[in-house]
Amino acid sequence: MLVNMKELLAEAKKNKKAVGAFNVPTLENIRAIIEAAEELDCPVILAHAQVHEKLISLPDIIPIMLHYAKKAKVPVAVHLDHGSSFDICVHAIREGVTSIMYDASDKDFETNLTETKEMVKIAHAAGVSVEAELGHIFTSEFGGEGTDEGRVSYAEKDNIDNNFYTDAGLAKKFVDETGVDFLAIAFGTVHGVYVKKPNLNMDVISEVVNKVDIPLVMHGGSGVSAENYKLAIERGITKINYFTYMNKAGGQAVKEYIEDNHEMPFFDEISTVAIDVMKENVKEAMRVFNN
Ligand code: 13P
Repeated sequence: MLVNMKELLAEAKKNKKAVGAFNVPTLENIRAIIEAAEELDCPVILAHAQVHEKLISLPDIIPIMLHYAKKAKVPVAVHLDHGSSFDICVHAIREGVTSIMYDASDKDFETNLTETKEMVKIAHAAGVSVEAELGHIFTSEFGGEGTDEGRVSYAEKDNIDNNFYTDAGLAKKFVDETGVDFLAIAFGTVHGVYVKKPNLNMDVISEVVNKVDIPLVMHGGSGVSAENYKLAIERGITKINYFTYMNKAGGQAVKEYIEDNHEMPFFDEISTVAIDVMKENVKEAMRVFNN
């Protein structure tokens, strides 16, 4: 059934669990995620990322996400991920999403605050909840979500000092003044493929939790160890954004299927292989998030 992300995350926060938000640029992604959630009887968030507009556009994918959400046996929220303009956020709201992310984290603090506050007014008037980001979550040069502007190599990232972490005092001011419903925080995760072990600063989560009372979001969630998921959830992360490693698992499985003497596979076979493997990948993550 289709639900608002606010209700979903309020419940998860109360129970010290996290809900996975999975990006869905293809029907295979949607089917893998919904089947995984139903098999585990677990709530889930389907997310369309603005960077995936080049793969499928919002008016094409949102109705399909809503269709699968409505007929699912488990609670499903439908979300716009990393919307960087009012136009795309309003477009997503008109298509029927239950929440949006307005991401002005590349801008200075005051601009991020002022613009987010405006977007919150618009979205709330339509009954849609809003996620924003404070601090900076980088995007690995090896693909993944996030904005192209934020794409850096690890060498560059290592040269940047620690001020990309979310500051708890600023988070309080930001949340109080914008009225935002969820906050994505930067504590060392990276969008895309991890080329080395992520260096996570879990204390950032606790510092923010001590100042703000809304659900907190981990971006760059895939590729993080089960142990770190558990620690982050214990400290107060309630939503985990997950894409790259599900996508990679699907691609790898198709490659192996073709190499494995299937010289002339039909596309439906490949599609089924990808769905099955992505479903297992998602289930593994969901078991930890929902424990
Ligand atoms: P990954 O692709 O690194 O899992 O990150 C997903 C994400 O944060 C989407 O916003």
